[in-house]
Amino acid sequence: MKEYVIWGKPEYSAKTRQVDIPKPGPKEVLVRVMAAGLNPKDWKWVKARDESCAMNAGDDVAGIVEAVGSEVFEYKPGDRVAAFHRMGEERGTYAEFTVVPSSTTFPLPPNISWEAGAGLPLSFMTAALALYQHLDLPLPTVPGQKDIPVLIYGGASAVGAYALQLAKLSKLNPIITVAGSGIDFVKSLNAATHIIDYRKGNVDSDVLAALGSTKLALAFDAICDHGSYEHISNVLVASSGGGHIDMVDPPEDPSWKFPDSVKMTRTFVSSAYGVPHKFITEEQAAADGEFAYMFYRYLSHLLAEGKFQPHPHDVLPGGLDGIIGGVKALRDGKVSAKKLVASLVDCSLGRRCTFSEHFFVTPWA
Ligand SMILES: NC(=O)c1ccc[n+]([C@@H]2O[C@H](COP(=O)([O-])OP(=O)(O)OC[C@H]3O[C@@H](n4cnc5c(N)ncnc54)[C@H](OP(=O)(O)O)[C@@H]3O)[C@@H](O)[C@H]2O)c1
Repeated sequence: MKEYVIWGKPEYSAKTRQVDIPKPGPKEVLVRVMAAGLNPKDWKWVKARDESCAMNAGDDVAGIVEAVGSEVFEYKPGDRVAAFHRMGEERGTYAEFTVVPSSTTFPLPPNISWEAGAGLPLSFMTAALALYQHLDLPLPTVPGQKDIPVLIYGGASAVGAYALQLAKLSKLNPIITVAGSGIDFVKSLNAATHIIDYRKGNVDSDVLAALGSTKLALAFDAICDHGSYEHISNVLVASSGGGHIDMVDPPEDPSWKFPDSVKMTRTFVSSAYGVPHKFITEEQAAADGEFAYMFYRYLSHLLAEGKFQPHPHDVLPGGLDGIIGGVKALRDGKVSAKKLVASLVDCSLGRRCTFSEHFFVTPWA
């Protein structure tokens, strides 16, 4: 099969190579890729790699089950699924076939296209782990409105927008978010009670004005850049004397110190496979693995019922060959309120295609 690999040194580049179709292990699923989603981590993880360490960096897939491992009981060949590949491992989603854990695979309902489905797995689970496993917010299954204020920084990002939709499903109130050129999209979600425009340059005072006398103690930073965590700290301290911030990345400024009254935690979506690492304890990883199993299947239900929507997406020009352009666009911060997706579906012919059969307008040009 063909696999598409990328590297970042001396400049971002890509090539295709011929490899064997991978085999699934006992608890794994072999998926025929119909669409692969890009994530900011794709450019970050290959930044220091040269061609000798080129990587199939794709982790998001929507496709058709081709084969299952000996212990997989939920899926069978022909099933329509989306899945989160194990980051950093071989057999990624930038290829004709990928191997994914069955625990991070979920049924893709018929009302969700391959391309829309490919934008869900990694960023959806990041948002869910942050809200429920780190900030301990009530699940959508808990009845009744909760007067729990939450700040979701970066409401137009994929992770932030998924967090907004989940916060709404959890019936939190108020839900405050910060966005810029993606504000119209954020409004269309009808999830945030207050949307702050960071381009006006008054994030701290605008969030505090939106809060009024309401005390904010919980925040999710889905950006971790451009001083986002500093704004959040200021607001938590001014509003409640402190609070809890959960972050998707370390502070962009390594010298930054949170005030003592602000607790900082970090979400690592890799804990969805239940594997501990330097920053995630064995206990947390085990709990996150169980949570991810349950929540991916809940996502299938929400999608099928029309209660949750995939992030808007742009299909890259050229099938898998378009990925390097998308990776560079993400690196350069040119993507607003969109997932970028490589499609292996040739819509006009109703069949799958691979590399250069697509001709789309470059979406970020
Ligand atoms: N720890 C983990 O496991 C994990 C998992 C997933 C993602 N991440 C990280 O989380 C971050 C977001 O990922 P993503 O996939 O959601 O990215 P994304 O969708 O590509 O984010 C792009 C969005 O970021 C928003 N943004 C940029 N600067 C902003 C600012 N100063 N204030 C508010 N919003 C701003 C933009 O909003 P506007 O269009 O409104 O300007 C844009 O729409 C990335 O750094 C990624 O690496 C970490």
